[in-house]
Amino acid sequence: MSDNIYTRVTFFSGENVPLEMHKARMVQRVNLISATERLDVLTRTGNNTFLLPNREVFLDMLTDSGVNAMSENQYAAMLLADDSYAGSETFYRLEKVLQGFFGTKYYLPAHQGRACENILASAYVSAKTPNVITNYHFTTTKAHIMLRGGTVHETVADSALATESDVPFKGDYDMGKFDALVKKLGAGSIAFVRVEAGTNLIGGQPVSLASMREVSAYCRKNNLTLVFDASLLADNLFFLKTRERECLDRDLASIVREIGSLMDVVYFSGRKLGCARGGGICTSNEAAYRKMRDLVPLYEGFLTYGGMSVREMEAMAVGIQETLDIHNISQTPLFVEAFGLELQSLGVPVVTPFGGLGCHVDASRFIPHVPQEQYPSAALCSAIYLVGGVRGMERGTLSESRNPDGSEHLSNMELVRLAVPKRVFTHSQIKFAADRIGWLHKHRDLVGGLEFEEEPATLRFFLGRLKPVGDWQRRLVDAFLKDMPSGL
Ligand SMILES: Cc1ncc(COP(=O)(O)O)c(C=O)c1O
Repeated sequence: MSDNIYTRVTFFSGENVPLEMHKARMVQRVNLISATERLDVLTRTGNNTFLLPNREVFLDMLTDSGVNAMSENQYAAMLLADDSYAGSETFYRLEKVLQGFFGTKYYLPAHQGRACENILASAYVSAKTPNVITNYHFTTTKAHIMLRGGTVHETVADSALATESDVPFKGDYDMGKFDALVKKLGAGSIAFVRVEAGTNLIGGQPVSLASMREVSAYCRKNNLTLVFDASLLADNLFFLKTRERECLDRDLASIVREIGSLMDVVYFSGRKLGCARGGGICTSNEAAYRKMRDLVPLYEGFLTYGGMSVREMEAMAVGIQETLDIHNISQTPLFVEAFGLELQSLGVPVVTPFGGLGCHVDASRFIPHVPQEQYPSAALCSAIYLVGGVRGMERGTLSESRNPDGSEHLSNMELVRLAVPKRVFTHSQIKFAADRIGWLHKHRDLVGGLEFEEEPATLRFFLGRLKPVGDWQRRLVDAFLKDMPSGL
């Protein structure tokens, strides 16, 4: 069996199809309600796709977090879990897997990615060291740093923010920007330097191994702590294997171990990496381990479970090992590519090159008439739900926090993320989503903006409630019903 085909098979007809290298043996029923019903639901739930009940969603493309399909081996491992508060065998099994995977010595368990960020920010961010440098911020990372009075500085190249591009590794550090920042801020004021795999907010864009090496060498030379967010490592690994020449013939295990050796601290959301629900922090640096260790029982739980169910820990241990299977990690990127190509063929503007995590629709090119102050990405998310029952996630100005003076912090990008969790959707469901978004694009002039009805002070995108500016949603549904009288 060849690994090199990455399951991208060309049909005799010439069509390229992302072939599934798995079969479904357990399924969940989904509902497709009508556009009229969807308008009622959206109004009731404050135009926030986080607040939609799953029973009223057809394709849940909100996120890949905790919703990737698990393998039969993961389910089987759950039965063997050792449930004890302290000293559980499950912990030692997971610790051993992580030691082998990243080549690191210590593992601190935490219940999910943001819990690791809380611990990291508590341990490293202070009045003396308020600055964190990163390729690009992630919402929860930034919130934890800001909560402690810190500031996040970004170093991706300006070209990484162009939604249409052929730059293969948009998550790379711009070393000129990085060096200038370190000089400006002073190395002594930097809490840590962060590299995020599969850079989430710019469209699931990967970081190259070459860039990680450069950043690591710079940090070692300047005595800076380098932290790696490995939550989206699986997708990033696929792109290293397919886009970075020296990785083409390297085995995945050796690439991951090299990455581990370049970093001082690695943390991850096990809701993403390992396709389960959990997380943790890995390091070989004893001082870093000691700095964070005592915070685990305080915030998470005892050191051998860290707030996780032991069943999830067993599933995560198996899932992390399965990250080294190219057929496992190729599934999301290949489906994202198929989704993106389908949308492009319908004229829909999407982020290129296609990344991991999901297909990212560019709201600023889709509905340029909606000003950023009226949250175009959120408005497009609502419109996509109205016409297809598809739940996407706003990744634009609404996902930002306001400036300290209360003014809007306008996002660099206005995106709608349509996540493609691993092995969850069929190809025809992807085609359905693309078809409905294609219809919406033809009727894009009907889409208007949103305004807040209720705005939480932190991470407002999770629980905020909005309403349409004017009656565009009613008019959009009327137009949809003309073309699709069943409303489906
Ligand atoms: C890159 C990245 N880091 C951190 C997190 C936070 O992880 P969690 O949702 O498990 O708290 C996420 C989650 O989406 C993520 O994508």
